[in-house]
Formats: sequence, structure tokens, C-alpha cells
Amino acid sequence: MSAREHEIYDVVGIGFGPSNLSLAISLEEHRANVLTNPITSAFFERQPRFGWHRNMLLPSATMQISFLKDLVTFRNPVSRYSFVSFLHASGRLAQFVNRQDFFPTRAEFHQYLEWAESSLSNVVTYSSSVTGIRLPPEVAHDRPEYLRIDVTDEGGGTRTVDARNVVISTGLVPRMPDGIARHERVWHSSEFLSRYGRTEPGDLKRVAVVGAGQSAAEITKFLYERLPHAQITAIMPSYGYSVADDTPFANQIFDAGAVDEYYFGTERARDAFWRYHKNTNYGVVDDAVIRHLYEIQYEEEVRETKRLHFRNLTKVSSVEHTGSETRVHLVSQLDGPQPFLDVDAIVFATGYDSLDPSRLLGDLDRFCLRDESGRHRVERDYRLVTTPDLPIGIYLQGGTEHTHGLTSSLLSNIAVRSGEIADSIIQRRAERELIPAGALQAADS
Ligand code: FDA
Ligand code: NAP
Repeated sequence: MSAREHEIYDVVGIGFGPSNLSLAISLEEHRANVLTNPITSAFFERQPRFGWHRNMLLPSATMQISFLKDLVTFRNPVSRYSFVSFLHASGRLAQFVNRQDFFPTRAEFHQYLEWAESSLSNVVTYSSSVTGIRLPPEVAHDRPEYLRIDVTDEGGGTRTVDARNVVISTGLVPRMPDGIARHERVWHSSEFLSRYGRTEPGDLKRVAVVGAGQSAAEITKFLYERLPHAQITAIMPSYGYSVADDTPFANQIFDAGAVDEYYFGTERARDAFWRYHKNTNYGVVDDAVIRHLYEIQYEEEVRETKRLHFRNLTKVSSVEHTGSETRVHLVSQLDGPQPFLDVDAIVFATGYDSLDPSRLLGDLDRFCLRDESGRHRVERDYRLVTTPDLPIGIYLQGGTEHTHGLTSSLLSNIAVRSGEIADSIIQRRAERELIPAGALQAADS
């Protein structure tokens, strides 16, 4: 990428996961349809290369959504960046169709994302963490037309670029239980494969997995299969794993149209989305994985051997390290404190917090309005609501569960959402420059 110091871009994207990759495509497809004055963009990604939750690319783990909910199809079904185009380019279209399955493996979807990214590498700079967004000193007392973005590369070098619009898409934040810190032998699921890969399998004779969501179930299954000599203990707060509801009526909450119903709905309606449909995504597990784990448990009963243990209705209260031992203290919701468990490693598959832009915004946060619960107010076009002193578009891809609903942190709606963000940026620029909006409208929108 050719960003020079203080070069001004129409769009600076922070993070280059699937959401901002989808936005980059949306902007490129717009650019392809506008001959003059294209929207300029630059994206910064802290990873050294493209990667989508690489540490959870467990063999045979499948996608949780249809392949048609790719980066583009719901916005532009004829885009050259669709999953179907990828299959065609890979020579696997016929074989994929023969599978008669909507759900590719996560490994194959990762290949698709990398394939799409390879055509957009000109707009992204890797190994570059955005550390803050601020008012440029020269416009600090005026209504600014751009913001300054601070970027640090992996060698500690710093640079700045200016942005007329910023799109924050930094993803989910791994969550550990209060009072428990990560350690060489205490892992969060988001770092699982890299930690596991750095550990001698023979050193893992006793491993525990905490949680009852998809990550916990997949890791439990993986460890049981990979470590035939090991005792595996699944520690879960619930009585057992609960199934992820992906039946057709419930699945409608992930439709693009549901975003309007959520956004413009009453507080009561929004509450109903969560009350009735949280089990489509949070703390739940794919039916096939649950059945697989139950089958293992039953087989062990038949064989009268036991190395997969379930500690249900149980939470970890603390973890202590004494010499080379890692000791886990447990509390059962049935009968209180339990005998400790010594492990060689423990994996906390305890979920994620959603994106919170406050840290990146720093002092700029004082221009951002909040609702009565203290959460950021967000326009329908995913733009933070700011005071008139800050007329710059700061868009969120993620962290909008409270305003836009359950798809906020998921892939289901990214094609449509990134198209809406691109349209908003284009429309607002047209208004600023008093160009008839139709002349700049994306042909695909
Ligand atoms: P994502 O987290 O993918 O990307 C954010 C990027 O920002 C990262 O690459 C990060 O390195 C970068 N970044 C963060 N801070 C930065 C900074 N300061 N500067 C520069 N870069 C920064 N959903 C779904 O719908 N179907 C599914 O099958 C799955 N599967 C799935 C598996 C696993 C293991 C997890 C943990 C989650 C899912 N999800 C999912 C949900 C998941 O949120 C979703 O798939 C996407 O990752 C969302 O894409 P984003 O680009 O928004 O975030
Ligand atoms: P999750 O769904 O949020 O589940 C976290 C689990 O940890 C819940 O069971 C939670 O219980 C439990 N937990 C939290 N704090 C705990 C504590 N202190 N002690 C014990 N248990 C605790 O997280 P996830 O499984 O990582 O899934 C996150 C997202 O990634 C979901 O969207 C999921 O679909 C996705 N994912 C997809 C795939 C795939 O595509 N194959 C794989 C993995 C994950 P409570 O409910 O009581 O809080």
C-alpha cells in the first residue's frame, strides 16, 4: 500500500477480518462502476497476514451459516467474490454441489476468504495495529473534516494517516472468568491451536475444558481424539450441552430485514429477540457435535473405560500454580466447593465480549452520544451518533447488538451491512460535494 504520512483517505478501516474485507469489496465494486473520483480507502490489520480465527480452525469443524451468506451474495449475487465463484475457480463446484450440504468446513471457508483477500491486498497493510483515533492538532478547535489515525507496526515503528470516515471492525474480545489469568498452561479458546501446537502432546495427560458453547464442545472433541492417553474433563455451568437452534423460523432473525425490525422496534420487541432466540448462537452447540460427544460417553460406559469426564453445573472458582502443577478449584451449583483438579492444561472456552470502540476513540469518545444505559448511540447506517462538533463518519462493524441485533458479531449480514456502510459513505460525500447522489450510487446497491 502506498499510504504516505498524512495522506487523506475517504475510508480508513481498522481491522481486516471478514467484515472489513466485505466492505473493501463493496467499495471496489462501487469504484468499478464510477469512472471519476473513486472513493479511496486504506485498511490496517494487526495480524501479519489474513486470518479468520485461525486458532479455532479445528479439522472438520463446520461453518455455522450457509455458504450463501458469504462476503457478497446477499448484496450482489453476481459479484465475482462469491463463494460459488471461489469454488468455480478452485475446480470444486461440482463436487461441492454433490455434497448436498449448505455448510462448508471452516477450513474451506478460510480458503475462500484468503482467495477473496488476495485480490484486495493493495488496500490493506498487515502487521499494523491502530492504537488510537484523534483530532488532528491543526483542526482541534474547528469542525474537523478528517481524523488522524495512529498506526504502530510490529517493529514498533509508528505512522499516521488521515480519514474522512473510519470503519472500526476489530472483532470479538476473548473473555476469561474474573480473577483467572492466562498462563502457559491456562489458555483461552481463541489461542487454542497455537498453544496446543507449542505443547508436547505427551505432556498433556490431564486437560480440562471450561464452557458449554460451540468452542468448548469442539475443543473437548478434538482433545479426546488427539490425545488417546489423556484424561479430558469438560467443566460446564449447565446441566449438559444445549443445541444451537438453526431451524428455519428461528433462523429468520438473521435475515437482513430483521435488522430494521430490531433497530426500529420497541424496547420490548428488542428484548423478545434476545429472550426467545439467544439460543441460536450463545452458549449452544451444533447438534452433530453434541451427539458425537454423547456417543463417546456411551461407548466408554459399554467398554467400562473412562477418560472423558463431565462436571456439569460446575464453575471454576480459581486456578493456582504450585511448581509445575496447575490446580483448578471448582464450585458445583448443586453442592458447593468440590475437590480440586490437577491439570497439565486448562482451556477456557468462556466466550467473548463484543467490540467496544471506546479505547480506540480515547478523547474523541466525548463527542459520541450514549443512551440511557450508557451504550453508544448508533445510526441505522452503523455510524456512531456524534455531537455536531464532530461531523465525521465513525462506523461500527460489530458492537451494535444493542441497536442492530443478533447479527452484529456474526457473518450472516456482513454483505448487506458493508453495502449499507459503503452507500452511506458515498451518499454523505455526495451531499458534502453537492454532487447528485444518483451519479455516485453504487450500481450494485
Ligand atoms: P474478526 O474478529 O474476524 O476480525 C477483526 C480483525 O481486526 C482481526 O483480524 C484482528 O486482528 C483485527 N484487529 C483488532 N484490533 C485491531 C487494531 N487495533 N488494529 C488493527 N487490527 C485490529 N459467525 C458466523 O456467522 N458463522 C460462523 O460460522 C462463525 N464461526 C466462528 C468461529 C469462531 C471460532 C469464532 C470465535 C467466531 C465465529 N463466528 C461465526 C463469529 C465471528 O465474529 C465472525 O465469524 C467474524 O469473525 C466477524 O468478522 P469481523 O471482521 O467483524 O471480526
Ligand atoms: P459462547 O457461545 O459465549 O459460550 C461460552 C460458554 O462459556 C458458555 O457456556 C458460558 O456459560 C460459559 N462460561 C462463561 N463464563 C464461564 C465461567 N466463568 N465458568 C464456566 N463457564 C463459563 O462462546 P463460544 O463457544 O466461544 O462461541 C462464540 C461464538 O463463536 C459463537 O457465535 C459461536 O457460534 C462461534 N463459534 C463457531 C464455531 C464454528 O463455526 N464451528 C466454533 C466455535 C465458536 P453461560 O452461558 O452460563 O455464560
